[in-house]
Amino acid sequence: MANRIRWNEPVFTGEEKKLVNEVLDSGYVSEGSFTKELEKQLQKYFSVKHAILTTSGTAALFLGIKADQMIRGLKDYEILVPDLTFIATANAIKWAGANPVLVDIEKNRFCISPKEIEKKITLKTKSILPMSFLGRSWDVNELNRIVKENNLTIIEDAAAALGSKTNQGHLGCFGKVGCYSLQSNKIISCGQGGIVVTNDDEYFEMIKRIKDQGRLYRGEEIYLTEGYNLKFNDILSAIVLAQFRNIEERKDRLINQRLMYEKELSEIPEISFPKINYEQGEVPSYVDILVKNRDKLKQHLELNEIFPRACWKPIHKNPPYQNQGNDSHFPNASLISNNCLWLPNGHAVSLEQIGYVCEKIKEFYEKINS
Ligand SMILES: Cc1ncc(COP(=O)(O)O)c(C=O)c1O
Repeated sequence: MANRIRWNEPVFTGEEKKLVNEVLDSGYVSEGSFTKELEKQLQKYFSVKHAILTTSGTAALFLGIKADQMIRGLKDYEILVPDLTFIATANAIKWAGANPVLVDIEKNRFCISPKEIEKKITLKTKSILPMSFLGRSWDVNELNRIVKENNLTIIEDAAAALGSKTNQGHLGCFGKVGCYSLQSNKIISCGQGGIVVTNDDEYFEMIKRIKDQGRLYRGEEIYLTEGYNLKFNDILSAIVLAQFRNIEERKDRLINQRLMYEKELSEIPEISFPKINYEQGEVPSYVDILVKNRDKLKQHLELNEIFPRACWKPIHKNPPYQNQGNDSHFPNASLISNNCLWLPNGHAVSLEQIGYVCEKIKEFYEKINS
């Protein structure tokens, strides 16, 4: 097979182009009616009071954290965050001027561990920032109990979990604020973009103000709070609106891709699939496997023009966060990070190509076991 098989690339059909042309023809390309319409659709989709678009998932997190800080008057405080996540989760906390405190994850679902959270709570802890690990839910009941007992808020990183649900609702909609990303390897992508959702009117107003230099709506001449420019624009909203029309098809594609991998690779003892609760509505944004000889398998696939991706390094390994401990302090995050591989999936990958990837994986284990 000649084509390179890459990990999670976006595909653009004619629909996006048609809507983008409408925006260009209108002459208004900043944040306007297309963005308003998209926010309305997102609010309905998530069944939340407010959805706000911004420039990236990182900016969405920043807005949620900053609004929480300004409303509660927080200073010199800590936010608990999983050690295994994309570094943006921790960086957004620093950007807002708070201190991220790393917490180990649960071994089976890869999300922040409630038991470990309880060990890290101090008088300075004001929030928890759980990350829905690529479509998997964290322990909503336990975290709700902990935040109630300790007067904390939850700000959710659901950057890679748009469309994923449990029987309690959409991931990203359990906390005070939830954040999604629209960056290139997400279920819906316009290159760069982010969504903030909240059911709290005060948070909504504050986020809107911070996002636009301190004003709530265009035409308001007095800027009541400090603010930035983290506004979205109608060109990108047009792309998202077009893709959002077939969100269900997109979810099905990701689910079917992972189901095919699970079926094809079920007889390889060196590979295991961490559980996804399909029956509750969880959607696997990436296909993560735990695997022996991860790096050698990756190399073998690359030689065959197949490009999977190794899991992130834990946050504690990155220089800005190295003062928080070593692998022995975060055993689960370290173990998963070292053994987890993301196989090629996404809207640009066909089931036929996945069949080919599976053949090459089987070939690798046959070779090393012979
Ligand atoms: C878990 C997680 N958090 C945050 C982000 C940041 O989102 P963005 O790249 O849109 O800023 C990402 C993006 O890839 C992510 O995977």
